[in-house]
Amino acid sequence: MKKAIIYYFSGTGNTWWVSKELKKQLVLNDWEVNCFSIECIQDEDILNQITDVNHIVFGFPVYGSTAPIPMLNFIHSFPKANNNQTISIFGTQALASGDTAYFIGKHLIKKGYKLKQTIHFKMMNNLHLPRFRFYAPKNDDRVISLHRKNLPIIKQLALNITHNKKNIRGKYSLGILIGIFQRSHINKLITTASKGFSVDSSRCVNCDKCVNICPTKNIIKSKNTYVFDSNCALCLRCYSQCPTYAILIGKKSANIKKFPRYKGPQDGFNVNLLIKAKK
Ligand SMILES: Cc1cc2nc3c(=O)[nH]c(=O)nc-3n(C[C@H](O)[C@H](O)[C@H](O)COP(=O)(O)O)c2cc1C
Repeated sequence: MKKAIIYYFSGTGNTWWVSKELKKQLVLNDWEVNCFSIECIQDEDILNQITDVNHIVFGFPVYGSTAPIPMLNFIHSFPKANNNQTISIFGTQALASGDTAYFIGKHLIKKGYKLKQTIHFKMMNNLHLPRFRFYAPKNDDRVISLHRKNLPIIKQLALNITHNKKNIRGKYSLGILIGIFQRSHINKLITTASKGFSVDSSRCVNCDKCVNICPTKNIIKSKNTYVFDSNCALCLRCYSQCPTYAILIGKKSANIKKFPRYKGPQDGFNVNLLIKAKK
């Protein structure tokens, strides 16, 4: 039986959902599959995990035509290919992905991996802030409808992996141009937006959920409130998952009708799935 492994980072659940469905489809095609949130593994475990694996999949949300900082760090420290492994890269995005998956794939080609698939999935948007309005996230049937549209694409991806078929998407002139343009702005967006975090103490119930779920340990309890350090990846997990909408990014985001929080794929999603084995 061939073995595959899926490593993913997900801020608010979309990439978790695609990873879960891809695992299902690969299993139906007789693969033995392990699927890990990168927050649940230690760097030193990776070498063992991939030693006898035939295919490795990397998944993450598209942030301005690149990957989130935790995924970039993961890929940076990922071991070199040791066994002729093939790889696939997928991104989840709200509107425009440019050449993201291919751009990330190139880093792994340099490590000796054979890039076979790059693909992007349109999912619900999670980024809609007073200073960076995209389109407001919906927490209704539109999420399910996007899932329905993605299922046949995921099925095809699993078939392509199974038949070792090459399918590189996003590597065309316009995609590359969108990519170059977006990548030149994304760091500024993240730095500026992450300076706008605050806690509305009239809403906060001091539950510590934000501290526990932050992937970069950027939130620190201080007296009866929380303060934000400078390692924010802008994954929006704390902002979306705060049970009382107490985390603000810009004062105007206190208005939850204008700035609704994305609650993630409804299909079995629980934020603890992303951090379960975290130390
Ligand atoms: C900081 C940030 C940047 C984003 N940039 C883009 C983008 O360039 N293009 C796009 O279509 N969606 C963009 N999005 C939307 C997310 O990629 C999309 O909602 C994704 O599916 C979220 O995945 P997750 O739930 O696994 O975190 C961005 C979201 C964030 C938080």
